[in-house]
Amino acid sequence: MSSTSAITNLQSQITNERTVFMKNLGILLSGRGSNFDAIARNVQAGKIPAKIAVVISNKEDAAGLATAKGMGLETRFIPSQGKEREAFDREVVSVLKDFQVDVVCLAGFMRILSPYFVRAFPGRILNIHPALLPAFPGTDVQKQALDYGVKFTGCTVHIVDEGVDSGPIVCQAVVPVLDEDTPESLSARILKEEHRIYSEAVCLLIEDKVRLQGRRLVSSGIAL
Ligand code: GRF
Repeated sequence: MSSTSAITNLQSQITNERTVFMKNLGILLSGRGSNFDAIARNVQAGKIPAKIAVVISNKEDAAGLATAKGMGLETRFIPSQGKEREAFDREVVSVLKDFQVDVVCLAGFMRILSPYFVRAFPGRILNIHPALLPAFPGTDVQKQALDYGVKFTGCTVHIVDEGVDSGPIVCQAVVPVLDEDTPESLSARILKEEHRIYSEAVCLLIEDKVRLQGRRLVSSGIAL
C-alpha cells in the first residue's frame, strides 16, 4: 500500500469512528429536572465527553426547563396536551434530529414513548427509574417498595424499548430501606444514587464501550 492510500485509509477509519461516536445529548423532562442538572454539571466539568444539544419539555413551567435556560442551553417547550401520542412524538423527534442528537436522556419525562419515537433512536434512548427493575415498574415506586416490605431498593438506568420500564439495563445502584423510611425519605436517598449512575450510564453509551448480547449489556464479552 502506498503511503498516500495508507493515510487515506487511516483518515476514513478516524472519520468512521467519529461518525459512530455518539456525543450530542438531547434531554427530555417534565418537571424538577434534578437528573438533568446532574448530567449538565458533569458535562460542564468535562466528566461526560458530550454536549447537551437541546433540552425539551412538554411542560412550560417545568423547573428543569428554567434551569436549562439559565445554563444558556438550547431549550424547546413542545406542548403535549390534546395531541395524539405519535403526533407529539413526531414533533419531538424532528427537533432532536434538527439538533443532530445521538443519545436521548429521559430525565423525569412523564410520557410513554410511541414505537415511532423508539424506532427513531434504536438503542439510544436512556431512562432513569427509581427502583431496581424489573421490580416495581410504573409510578409511585418508592411507596410500592415500602408497601411490599423490601429491604433493598434502588435505581436503574435502562435503554428504552417499546415496553414500559422494560428495556436492557445499563446501570443500577442499591439503596437500603430503613425502618423509619417514608416514601419521601427513601426517594431522597435513591435520588442521590440516580444523580451518580445516570452520568455513568451516559458515558458507557457515548464512549461506545458496551454492546448488547441478547438483552444483556456487556463490555468486551463480560457482563458489567
Ligand atoms: C426521578 O426519580 C426519576 O427516577 C423518575 O422521575 C424522577 C425525576 O426527577 N423517572 P428529576 O426531575 O430528575 O428531579
